[in-house]
Amino acid sequence: MSPSSPRAIVSPSVLASNFAQLGDEIRRMMKCGAEWVHMDVMDGHFVPNITMGAPVLASVDKDVKDVFMDCHMMVSDPEKWVKPVAEAGGKSYTFHIEALADPSKAPELVDLIHSHSMRAAVAISPSTPSSAISTSLGQKVDMLLVMTVVPGAGGQKFMKECVPKVSELRERFPEKDIQVDGGVGPGTVGCCARAGSNVIVAGTALFGASDPKSVIDDFKKQVDEGKSVWGTEKALEGL
Ligand code: DX5
Ligand code: ZN
Repeated sequence: MSPSSPRAIVSPSVLASNFAQLGDEIRRMMKCGAEWVHMDVMDGHFVPNITMGAPVLASVDKDVKDVFMDCHMMVSDPEKWVKPVAEAGGKSYTFHIEALADPSKAPELVDLIHSHSMRAAVAISPSTPSSAISTSLGQKVDMLLVMTVVPGAGGQKFMKECVPKVSELRERFPEKDIQVDGGVGPGTVGCCARAGSNVIVAGTALFGASDPKSVIDDFKKQVDEGKSVWGTEKALEGL
């Protein structure tokens, strides 16, 4: 693996932003160095809450120049929303393996996402083992998402028991982007980074910060430092 790959990426979760000023909130994070913006789409079915759908994504895409929308689809029937999200400007489409009635159909969904010119990612909830992602599926996607809270709401406590799954996936997929999402902040990003995560999602820790730029810089520094122990016994040290 080249030392610079995979690179550190920060994706602020807009769930913790002021939705009445979504464009300004996203521009604020991009100015602070966020590469992506994490759009949590919830359908009130896969998870109890409802957040936003394709019309909101389309408005953001129109309003915010060069935005990279990292769409976290907490929805049942994830295949149903690929086209609307792509047309709304989504750049990355993450589906939950638990949302598929037949998980062996996941490769077809990845093909559908790719055919709509988006990156494809597969997510696992805290109760789902990393083995739910087969080797062929992991190789087919662009990113793997390990949830560190139960999907459905922002502002929850980080579940460190999910972190070993990050190192298991990093060992199996050394070149892939591995994202963590839920309760991640300055105090919890380090163990994720050492385990192998390079794409950091944070809502409360960024939108609630008085100096989000310093938090984003710190996240990237911790990811770059963490890379040196990926795949070693130090990867899970201090958990
Ligand atoms: C949870 C969402 C997360 C959440 C992260 O269902 O997927 O993206 O908004 O927010 P914090 O960082 O506040 O836990
Ligand atoms: Zn999310």
